[in-house]
Amino acid sequence: MLSKTPPMGFNTWNTFGEDINETVIKETADAMVATGLRDAGYEYLVIDDCWSKRERDPETGKIVPEPAKFPNGMKAVSDYVHAKGLKFGMYSCAGTRTCADYPGSFGHEFLDAETFAEYGADFLKYDYCYKPNTANGPLLYRKMGMALKACGREILFSACNWGCDDVHTWIRSAGAHMFRSTGDINDSFPSMREIALSQIDNLAYSAVGCFNDIDMLTIGMYGKGNVGSTGCNDTDYKTQFALWCMFSAPLMLGGDIRTFSEKTLALVTNKTLLRINQDPEARPCFAPERENDARVFVKILSDNEFAIMLANLNDYDTHLCVFFENLGIPADSGYGLEMTDVFTGESLGVKKEFLRRRIPAHDCECYICKLAK
Ligand code: GLA
Repeated sequence: MLSKTPPMGFNTWNTFGEDINETVIKETADAMVATGLRDAGYEYLVIDDCWSKRERDPETGKIVPEPAKFPNGMKAVSDYVHAKGLKFGMYSCAGTRTCADYPGSFGHEFLDAETFAEYGADFLKYDYCYKPNTANGPLLYRKMGMALKACGREILFSACNWGCDDVHTWIRSAGAHMFRSTGDINDSFPSMREIALSQIDNLAYSAVGCFNDIDMLTIGMYGKGNVGSTGCNDTDYKTQFALWCMFSAPLMLGGDIRTFSEKTLALVTNKTLLRINQDPEARPCFAPERENDARVFVKILSDNEFAIMLANLNDYDTHLCVFFENLGIPADSGYGLEMTDVFTGESLGVKKEFLRRRIPAHDCECYICKLAK
Protein backbone atom coordinates (compact mmCIF):
# COMPACT_ATOMS: atom_id res chain seq x y z
CA MET A 1 0.00 0.00 0.00
CA LEU A 2 1.30 3.44 -0.94
CA SER A 3 0.92 6.55 1.21
CA LYS A 4 0.58 4.71 4.52
CA THR A 5 1.99 7.88 6.02
CA PRO A 6 2.24 11.34 4.41
CA PRO A 7 4.60 11.16 1.41
CA MET A 8 7.93 12.99 1.79
CA GLY A 9 10.33 14.29 -0.81
CA PHE A 10 11.31 17.21 -2.99
CA ASN A 11 9.59 18.93 -5.93
CA THR A 12 11.32 21.22 -8.44
CA TRP A 13 8.59 23.85 -8.88
CA ASN A 14 9.12 26.29 -5.99
CA THR A 15 12.79 26.86 -6.68
CA PHE A 16 13.39 26.05 -10.32
CA GLY A 17 10.13 26.58 -12.22
CA GLU A 18 10.96 26.02 -15.89
CA ASP A 19 14.74 26.04 -15.26
CA ILE A 20 15.01 22.30 -14.78
CA ASN A 21 17.48 19.97 -16.42
CA GLU A 22 19.37 16.72 -15.91
CA THR A 23 22.19 18.42 -13.99
CA VAL A 24 19.84 20.09 -11.49
CA ILE A 25 18.04 16.80 -10.86
CA LYS A 26 21.25 14.83 -10.41
CA GLU A 27 22.74 17.46 -8.09
CA THR A 28 19.53 17.50 -6.06
CA ALA A 29 19.58 13.71 -5.81
CA ASP A 30 23.20 13.86 -4.62
CA ALA A 31 22.28 16.54 -2.08
CA MET A 32 19.31 14.56 -0.76
CA VAL A 33 21.73 11.76 0.10
CA ALA A 34 24.67 13.88 1.34
CA THR A 35 22.53 16.02 3.65
CA GLY A 36 20.86 13.01 5.25
CA LEU A 37 17.45 14.06 3.96
CA ARG A 38 16.92 10.73 2.20
CA ASP A 39 17.71 8.84 5.38
CA ALA A 40 15.34 11.10 7.31
CA GLY A 41 12.51 9.90 5.00
CA TYR A 42 12.50 12.37 2.08
CA GLU A 43 12.37 9.72 -0.64
CA TYR A 44 10.57 11.16 -3.70
CA LEU A 45 12.38 13.45 -6.13
CA VAL A 46 9.64 14.94 -8.32
CA ILE A 47 10.14 16.82 -11.59
CA ASP A 48 7.28 19.32 -11.93
CA ASP A 49 6.03 21.17 -15.03
CA CYS A 50 8.17 22.20 -18.05
CA TRP A 51 10.12 18.97 -18.60
CA SER A 52 8.76 18.08 -22.05
CA LYS A 53 8.82 19.42 -25.58
CA ARG A 54 6.00 21.82 -26.42
CA GLU A 55 4.25 19.24 -28.61
CA ARG A 56 3.78 15.49 -28.63
CA ASP A 57 5.65 13.31 -31.09
CA PRO A 58 3.45 13.39 -34.23
CA GLU A 59 4.20 9.75 -35.02
CA THR A 60 3.80 8.03 -31.68
CA GLY A 61 1.56 10.57 -29.93
CA LYS A 62 3.84 10.37 -26.89
CA ILE A 63 5.05 13.23 -24.71
CA VAL A 64 8.77 13.69 -25.31
CA PRO A 65 11.33 15.06 -22.85
CA GLU A 66 12.86 18.36 -24.02
CA PRO A 67 16.32 17.35 -25.33
CA ALA A 68 17.90 20.69 -24.39
CA LYS A 69 16.99 19.97 -20.75
CA PHE A 70 17.15 16.17 -20.67
CA PRO A 71 19.57 15.17 -23.46
CA ASN A 72 19.71 11.53 -22.32
CA GLY A 73 15.95 11.13 -21.90
CA MET A 74 14.01 10.52 -18.70
CA LYS A 75 14.95 6.89 -18.09
CA ALA A 76 18.58 7.92 -17.62
CA VAL A 77 17.52 10.52 -15.03
CA SER A 78 15.25 8.06 -13.30
CA ASP A 79 18.03 5.43 -13.21
CA TYR A 80 20.35 7.95 -11.56
CA VAL A 81 17.73 8.85 -8.97
CA HIS A 82 17.00 5.18 -8.25
CA ALA A 83 20.72 4.40 -7.91
CA LYS A 84 20.79 6.93 -5.08
CA GLY A 85 18.12 5.01 -3.21
CA LEU A 86 15.45 7.57 -4.05
CA LYS A 87 12.12 7.38 -5.88
CA PHE A 88 11.39 9.24 -9.09
CA GLY A 89 8.39 11.51 -9.71
CA MET A 90 6.89 12.99 -12.88
CA TYR A 91 4.25 15.62 -13.60
CA SER A 92 1.34 15.93 -16.03
CA CYS A 93 -2.07 17.55 -16.19
CA ALA A 94 -5.69 16.41 -16.52
CA GLY A 95 -6.37 19.15 -19.06
CA THR A 96 -5.22 19.59 -22.66
CA ARG A 97 -2.13 21.61 -21.64
CA THR A 98 -0.16 21.87 -18.40
CA CYS A 99 -0.30 25.07 -16.39
CA ALA A 100 2.90 26.27 -18.09
CA ASP A 101 1.52 25.34 -21.54
CA TYR A 102 3.15 21.98 -22.28
CA PRO A 103 1.14 18.95 -23.49
CA GLY A 104 -1.43 17.71 -20.94
CA SER A 105 -2.74 14.16 -20.66
CA PHE A 106 -6.40 14.84 -21.57
CA GLY A 107 -7.41 12.05 -23.97
CA HIS A 108 -3.98 10.40 -23.66
CA GLU A 109 -4.22 9.08 -20.11
CA PHE A 110 -3.38 5.43 -20.77
CA LEU A 111 -0.55 6.17 -23.21
CA ASP A 112 0.99 8.69 -20.81
CA ALA A 113 0.75 6.37 -17.82
CA GLU A 114 2.60 3.75 -19.90
CA THR A 115 5.21 6.35 -20.83
CA PHE A 116 5.76 7.26 -17.18
CA ALA A 117 6.06 3.56 -16.34
CA GLU A 118 8.71 3.23 -19.09
CA TYR A 119 10.63 6.07 -17.44
CA GLY A 120 10.52 4.15 -14.16
CA ALA A 121 8.36 6.73 -12.43
CA ASP A 122 7.15 6.03 -8.88
CA PHE A 123 5.02 9.17 -8.47
CA LEU A 124 2.80 11.28 -10.70
CA LYS A 125 1.63 14.79 -9.84
CA TYR A 126 -1.50 15.48 -11.88
CA ASP A 127 -2.55 19.11 -12.33
CA TYR A 128 -5.87 20.70 -13.40
CA CYS A 129 -5.15 23.50 -15.90
CA TYR A 130 -6.83 23.68 -19.33
CA LYS A 131 -9.58 21.26 -18.35
CA PRO A 132 -12.27 21.54 -21.04
CA ASN A 133 -15.43 23.02 -19.48
CA THR A 134 -17.46 20.07 -20.72
CA ALA A 135 -15.13 17.51 -19.09
CA ASN A 136 -16.02 16.01 -15.73
CA GLY A 137 -13.21 16.64 -13.23
CA PRO A 138 -13.72 13.58 -11.01
CA LEU A 139 -13.88 11.38 -14.12
CA LEU A 140 -10.56 12.76 -15.40
CA TYR A 141 -8.87 11.82 -12.12
CA ARG A 142 -10.55 8.40 -12.17
CA LYS A 143 -9.25 7.85 -15.70
CA MET A 144 -5.67 8.59 -14.76
CA GLY A 145 -6.15 6.52 -11.61
CA MET A 146 -7.18 3.55 -13.80
CA ALA A 147 -4.37 4.19 -16.29
CA LEU A 148 -1.85 4.11 -13.46
CA LYS A 149 -3.32 0.85 -12.16
CA ALA A 150 -2.98 -0.61 -15.67
CA CYS A 151 0.55 0.61 -16.41
CA GLY A 152 2.41 -2.18 -14.67
CA ARG A 153 4.24 -0.06 -12.09
CA GLU A 154 3.25 1.03 -8.63
CA ILE A 155 2.95 4.80 -9.00
CA LEU A 156 1.87 7.17 -6.25
CA PHE A 157 -0.94 9.35 -7.62
CA SER A 158 -0.69 12.96 -6.45
CA ALA A 159 -3.81 14.88 -7.52
CA CYS A 160 -3.46 18.64 -7.82
CA ASN A 161 -6.78 20.39 -8.46
CA TRP A 162 -6.29 23.10 -5.80
CA GLY A 163 -9.37 22.13 -3.79
CA CYS A 164 -11.80 22.75 -6.68
CA ASP A 165 -15.14 20.94 -7.01
CA ASP A 166 -15.09 19.81 -3.35
CA VAL A 167 -12.21 17.51 -4.21
CA HIS A 168 -12.01 16.09 -0.67
CA THR A 169 -15.43 14.48 -1.11
CA TRP A 170 -14.51 12.33 -4.16
CA ILE A 171 -10.77 12.16 -4.68
CA ARG A 172 -10.23 9.02 -2.63
CA SER A 173 -12.53 7.15 -5.03
CA ALA A 174 -10.15 8.04 -7.89
CA GLY A 175 -7.35 6.15 -6.16
CA ALA A 176 -5.27 9.24 -5.42
CA HIS A 177 -2.72 9.01 -2.60
CA MET A 178 -2.64 12.74 -1.86
CA PHE A 179 -4.69 15.70 -3.05
CA ARG A 180 -3.85 19.38 -3.26
CA SER A 181 -6.55 21.29 -1.43
CA THR A 182 -5.40 24.88 -1.96
CA GLY A 183 -4.05 27.33 -4.50
CA ASP A 184 -0.30 27.72 -4.94
CA ILE A 185 1.84 28.71 -1.99
CA ASN A 186 4.28 31.58 -2.26
CA ASP A 187 7.21 32.20 0.01
CA SER A 188 5.54 34.55 2.49
CA PHE A 189 3.97 34.15 5.91
CA PRO A 190 0.49 35.38 4.81
CA SER A 191 0.38 32.79 2.00
CA MET A 192 1.35 29.97 4.33
CA ARG A 193 -1.13 31.17 7.00
CA GLU A 194 -4.03 31.42 4.56
CA ILE A 195 -3.36 27.93 3.24
CA ALA A 196 -3.12 26.36 6.69
CA LEU A 197 -6.19 28.10 8.12
CA SER A 198 -8.26 27.18 5.05
CA GLN A 199 -7.90 23.46 5.72
CA ILE A 200 -8.67 23.16 9.42
CA ASP A 201 -12.18 21.89 8.69
CA ASN A 202 -10.96 19.47 5.98
CA LEU A 203 -8.37 17.57 7.95
CA ALA A 204 -10.72 14.71 8.75
CA TYR A 205 -10.77 13.92 5.00
CA SER A 206 -7.05 13.22 5.19
CA ALA A 207 -6.22 9.67 6.24
CA VAL A 208 -3.97 6.68 5.73
CA GLY A 209 -3.75 6.03 1.98
CA CYS A 210 -4.67 9.57 0.85
CA PHE A 211 -3.50 12.79 2.50
CA ASN A 212 -4.57 16.42 2.23
CA ASP A 213 -1.69 18.18 0.44
CA ILE A 214 -1.31 21.85 1.40
CA ASP A 215 1.47 22.36 -1.18
CA MET A 216 5.22 22.21 -1.25
CA LEU A 217 7.14 23.74 1.64
CA THR A 218 9.00 27.02 1.10
CA ILE A 219 11.39 26.40 3.99
CA GLY A 220 14.93 27.57 3.20
CA MET A 221 13.93 29.71 0.20
CA TYR A 222 14.27 33.14 1.88
CA GLY A 223 12.50 34.83 -1.02
CA LYS A 224 14.57 33.26 -3.80
CA GLY A 225 13.30 31.03 -6.59
CA ASN A 226 10.14 30.69 -8.61
CA VAL A 227 7.50 31.45 -5.94
CA GLY A 228 9.63 34.18 -4.40
CA SER A 229 7.38 36.87 -2.93
CA THR A 230 8.67 38.55 0.23
CA GLY A 231 10.33 35.48 1.70
CA CYS A 232 10.12 34.25 5.25
CA ASN A 233 12.46 34.31 8.25
CA ASP A 234 13.49 31.36 10.39
CA THR A 235 10.61 31.85 12.82
CA ASP A 236 8.11 31.74 9.96
CA TYR A 237 9.71 28.56 8.62
CA LYS A 238 9.68 26.91 12.04
CA THR A 239 5.93 27.53 12.26
CA GLN A 240 5.37 26.38 8.69
CA PHE A 241 7.10 23.07 9.30
CA ALA A 242 5.33 22.40 12.58
CA LEU A 243 1.94 23.14 10.98
CA TRP A 244 2.55 20.77 8.08
CA CYS A 245 3.61 18.10 10.58
CA MET A 246 0.57 18.62 12.81
CA PHE A 247 -1.74 18.50 9.76
CA SER A 248 -0.32 15.13 8.58
CA ALA A 249 0.45 16.92 5.32
CA PRO A 250 2.78 15.53 2.68
CA LEU A 251 6.26 17.00 3.26
CA MET A 252 7.51 17.98 -0.17
CA LEU A 253 10.50 20.29 0.14
CA GLY A 254 10.52 23.11 -2.39
CA GLY A 255 13.70 24.98 -1.42
CA ASP A 256 17.05 24.37 -3.10
CA ILE A 257 18.40 21.43 -1.10
CA ARG A 258 21.89 21.99 -2.53
CA THR A 259 22.13 25.22 -0.53
CA PHE A 260 20.25 24.29 2.68
CA SER A 261 21.94 25.58 5.85
CA GLU A 262 22.51 23.45 8.93
CA LYS A 263 19.63 25.29 10.57
CA THR A 264 17.22 24.48 7.74
CA LEU A 265 18.32 20.86 7.72
CA ALA A 266 17.91 20.59 11.49
CA LEU A 267 14.36 21.93 11.22
CA VAL A 268 13.17 19.61 8.44
CA THR A 269 14.79 16.56 10.05
CA ASN A 270 13.51 17.27 13.60
CA LYS A 271 12.83 13.72 14.71
CA THR A 272 9.89 14.48 16.97
CA LEU A 273 8.11 16.64 14.39
CA LEU A 274 8.61 13.93 11.77
CA ARG A 275 7.26 11.37 14.22
CA ILE A 276 4.16 13.55 14.69
CA ASN A 277 3.75 13.90 10.90
CA GLN A 278 4.35 10.21 10.20
CA ASP A 279 2.26 8.83 13.07
CA PRO A 280 0.75 5.57 11.76
CA GLU A 281 -2.80 6.40 12.88
CA ALA A 282 -2.75 9.77 11.06
CA ARG A 283 -5.55 11.18 13.19
CA PRO A 284 -6.64 14.66 12.18
CA CYS A 285 -5.58 17.44 14.51
CA PHE A 286 -8.24 19.71 15.96
CA ALA A 287 -8.15 23.29 17.13
CA PRO A 288 -9.76 23.69 20.58
CA GLU A 289 -8.68 27.31 21.16
CA ARG A 290 -8.25 30.42 19.03
CA GLU A 291 -7.27 34.09 19.30
CA ASN A 292 -7.96 35.70 15.91
CA ASP A 293 -5.58 33.84 13.56
CA ALA A 294 -3.69 32.13 16.40
CA ARG A 295 -4.70 28.56 17.21
CA VAL A 296 -3.96 25.75 19.57
CA PHE A 297 -3.75 22.51 17.60
CA VAL A 298 -3.93 19.09 19.17
CA LYS A 299 -3.11 15.79 17.50
CA ILE A 300 -3.63 12.54 19.32
CA LEU A 301 -0.88 10.06 18.45
CA SER A 302 -0.45 6.34 18.78
CA ASP A 303 1.02 4.95 22.01
CA ASN A 304 -0.85 7.30 24.33
CA GLU A 305 0.96 10.43 23.22
CA PHE A 306 -0.44 13.82 22.23
CA ALA A 307 1.10 16.63 20.27
CA ILE A 308 0.09 20.18 21.15
CA MET A 309 1.05 23.18 19.04
CA LEU A 310 0.51 26.78 20.15
CA ALA A 311 0.63 28.49 16.77
CA ASN A 312 0.65 32.26 16.81
CA LEU A 313 -0.34 33.05 13.23
CA ASN A 314 -1.13 36.65 14.24
CA ASP A 315 1.23 39.47 13.26
CA TYR A 316 1.52 40.45 16.95
CA ASP A 317 2.50 38.69 20.19
CA THR A 318 -0.43 36.70 21.58
CA HIS A 319 -1.29 34.88 24.79
CA LEU A 320 -2.55 31.39 24.04
CA CYS A 321 -4.10 29.16 26.62
CA VAL A 322 -4.95 25.51 26.28
CA PHE A 323 -7.43 24.09 28.78
CA PHE A 324 -6.89 20.36 29.18
CA GLU A 325 -10.62 19.97 29.80
CA ASN A 326 -11.04 20.79 26.09
CA LEU A 327 -8.80 17.86 25.15
CA GLY A 328 -10.92 15.49 27.22
CA ILE A 329 -8.92 15.71 30.46
CA PRO A 330 -11.15 17.13 33.24
CA ALA A 331 -9.35 18.50 36.31
CA ASP A 332 -11.18 16.07 38.61
CA SER A 333 -9.76 13.12 36.65
CA GLY A 334 -6.56 13.72 38.57
CA TYR A 335 -4.58 13.63 35.34
CA GLY A 336 -2.33 16.26 33.90
CA LEU A 337 0.12 16.27 31.02
CA GLU A 338 3.82 15.63 31.10
CA MET A 339 5.05 18.00 28.42
CA THR A 340 8.32 18.03 26.50
CA ASP A 341 9.28 20.84 24.14
CA VAL A 342 9.71 19.46 20.62
CA PHE A 343 12.29 22.07 19.60
CA THR A 344 14.49 22.18 22.72
CA GLY A 345 13.89 18.75 24.25
CA GLU A 346 13.25 20.44 27.62
CA SER A 347 10.59 19.03 29.93
CA LEU A 348 7.99 21.29 31.54
CA GLY A 349 7.21 18.54 34.05
CA VAL A 350 3.59 17.60 34.71
CA LYS A 351 1.15 20.45 33.97
CA LYS A 352 -2.37 20.39 35.38
CA GLU A 353 -5.57 21.95 34.05
CA PHE A 354 -4.06 24.40 31.54
CA LEU A 355 -0.98 25.80 29.87
CA ARG A 356 -0.79 29.52 29.15
CA ARG A 357 2.05 31.01 27.12
CA ARG A 358 2.89 34.30 25.46
CA ILE A 359 3.97 33.47 21.92
CA PRO A 360 5.77 36.06 19.77
CA ALA A 361 4.24 36.99 16.39
CA HIS A 362 4.48 34.14 13.82
CA ASP A 363 6.20 31.87 16.35
CA CYS A 364 4.99 28.62 17.85
CA GLU A 365 5.64 26.19 20.65
CA CYS A 366 5.14 22.45 20.25
CA TYR A 367 4.95 19.82 22.93
CA ILE A 368 4.83 16.10 22.95
CA CYS A 369 2.66 15.07 25.88
CA LYS A 370 1.75 12.07 27.95
CA LEU A 371 -1.01 11.67 30.51
CA ALA A 372 0.43 11.74 34.03
CA LYS A 373 -0.83 12.01 37.61
C1 GLA B 1 0.03 24.65 -10.82
C2 GLA B 1 0.33 23.82 -9.58
C3 GLA B 1 1.74 24.11 -9.10
C4 GLA B 1 2.75 23.82 -10.20
C5 GLA B 1 2.39 24.63 -11.44
C6 GLA B 1 3.26 24.25 -12.62
O1 GLA B 1 -0.03 26.02 -10.54
O2 GLA B 1 -0.61 24.11 -8.58
O3 GLA B 1 2.03 23.35 -7.95
O4 GLA B 1 2.73 22.45 -10.49
O5 GLA B 1 1.05 24.42 -11.82
O6 GLA B 1 2.92 24.99 -13.77
